Amino acid sequence: MSQPKKLFIKTYGCQMNVYDSERMAEAMGGQGYETVDSPDDADMILLNTCHIREKAAEKVYSELGRYKGLKAEKPDLKIGVAGCVAQAEGEEIMRRQPMVDLVVGPQSYHRLPELTARTHNGAKAIDTDFPEEDKFEHLKSRPKAKRGPTAFLTVQEGCDKFCAFCVVPYTRGAEVSRPAQRIMTEARDLVERGVREITLLGQNVNAYHGHDTGLAGLIRELSTIDGLERIRFTTSHPNDMDDALIAAHGECEKLMPYLHLPVQSGSDKILKRMNRSHTRDQYFALIERLRAARPDLHMSGDFIVGFPEETEEDFRDTLDLIEQVKYGSAFSFKYSERPGTPAAERPQVPEDEKDDRLQRLQALLKRQQQDLQDAMVGREVSVLFERAGRLPGQMVGKSEYLHAVHVTAPENQAIQPGDLLKVRIESSGPNSLSGVLIGR
Ligand code: SAH
Ligand code: SF4
Ligand code: F3S
Repeated sequence: MSQPKKLFIKTYGCQMNVYDSERMAEAMGGQGYETVDSPDDADMILLNTCHIREKAAEKVYSELGRYKGLKAEKPDLKIGVAGCVAQAEGEEIMRRQPMVDLVVGPQSYHRLPELTARTHNGAKAIDTDFPEEDKFEHLKSRPKAKRGPTAFLTVQEGCDKFCAFCVVPYTRGAEVSRPAQRIMTEARDLVERGVREITLLGQNVNAYHGHDTGLAGLIRELSTIDGLERIRFTTSHPNDMDDALIAAHGECEKLMPYLHLPVQSGSDKILKRMNRSHTRDQYFALIERLRAARPDLHMSGDFIVGFPEETEEDFRDTLDLIEQVKYGSAFSFKYSERPGTPAAERPQVPEDEKDDRLQRLQALLKRQQQDLQDAMVGREVSVLFERAGRLPGQMVGKSEYLHAVHVTAPENQAIQPGDLLKVRIESSGPNSLSGVLIGR
C-alpha cells in the first residue's frame, strides 16, 4: 500500500470553520491523506480562513509568508486557501501570494478532492461558486473513527440579515438549512463514535427551517437519541427566537441552560444603523421570556464598540444593557471596516476612542462573568468530562453553563473522558471552577 500523504489544516474564525475543517479532513482521508499537527513535513497545507475583521483576514497572508521556505524546499507541496477569505478575495489571493495552488470557497468543499487533483504539475485551481447541491451530502467520510465526547454539527449556513458591518452574507451566501433526517443520521453516527454533547451550528442557527417545527422541532427529535446527553446551539439572532424555541428551554431536558444571543449594541440609534431590526427593549423582553422559561439560563453575547457614529452616550447605553442582562460570557470587538459593507462608508470613530471603549466594556464584562462564576460555589452541577488536567488524577470538563470544571477523583473512581457526573463546586479561580464528585 502506498504511504499516506500528509495534510496540515489550520483553522481560523468561527466554529463553523472548525466543523468544515473536520469534514474536509475526512474527505481528503478518502484520497489517501492523513492529517498532521505541523506544516513542516506536510504534502498539503490548507488554511481555513476568516474574513470577519481586517486582522483576521490579514493573518492569512502573514501565515502564507511563513510557508515560503517550505515551498522552496519541496516544490510539490500544495498550498490551499479555503474559508471566507477565499470566498471574498478569490483570485486576488493567488496574485498576492503566487505560491497558492488552490482557492476554495466555503460552499464548494465537496469539490476539494477534484480541485486538488487539478493542481497537478503546478496548475492552479479555484472554485468560489455557490452551487445548488448540499456540500455536506457530497463530502465522503472515511471509516468511522472514535472521537471525543463533544462535537459540532452544522445544520444551517449563510445569512440573509445584512447587518451593516458584516461580511458573512457575502462570504457564506443566503440562508440554507440541511434536512432534519440527514442531521439525525449524522448525529446518530456521532453518538456511535462516542459523542455525548452536540452543538448545532449555523450563522443564524435559529432561522433553521429544515424541520417542519423549526430548530425547536429538530432539538426535540435529537433528544430522542439514546446516548446523546446534551444539546447546544449557536449562533442565534434575536429576531429568529420563536415561541417554540423559547419553550424548549424550559421543557427539553437535554437542551443546556446557556444561550449565545448577540445584541452588538445597547443603543437604539446604533442598532438601527447596524440594521439589526430590533430595539433594546425588544431584546430585554425576549430575555425576560427566556428566563421565565428557564430561570437559571446563562446568557452570552457579542458586542461591537466604535461602530460608525457611535457617541459616548450610545456606548453608555451598551454598558447599561450589559448591567441589566448580566452575561455569563461574552465576546467583544472593535468595529472593523469591511470593504463592500454599508458601514464602511460612514463617518468612523477614531481608533483611540474605540480602544478606550473596548477596555471599559471588557472590564465590565469580566467583572460580571467572574461574579456569575463565583456564584456557582456551593452548587451542584453536572460535568461532561473531556480531558486530563495538569495534576495527577485530575480531569477537566464543562458544566451545563459551559464553565470549565476541574475535579481530582479518588484513586478508585478514575474519571474517563465522556463521563457525565455530578459535582459540587468548591472554589472559583480566574478562568475555571474546581469541585468534588458527588455521584455518578
Ligand atoms: N451571526 C452572528 C454573528 C456572526 S459574526 C450574529 O448575528 O450574531 C460574529 C461576531 O463578529 C458578530 O456577532 C459581531 O460581534 C462580530 N463582527 C462582525 N462583523 C464585524 C466587524 N466588521 N467589526 C467588528 N466585529 C464584527
Ligand atoms: Fe453578520 Fe448580522 Fe448575519 Fe450575524 S446576522 S452573520 S452579524 S449579517
Ligand atoms: Fe469568519 Fe466566515 Fe466564520 S468570516 S466568523 S469564518 S463565517
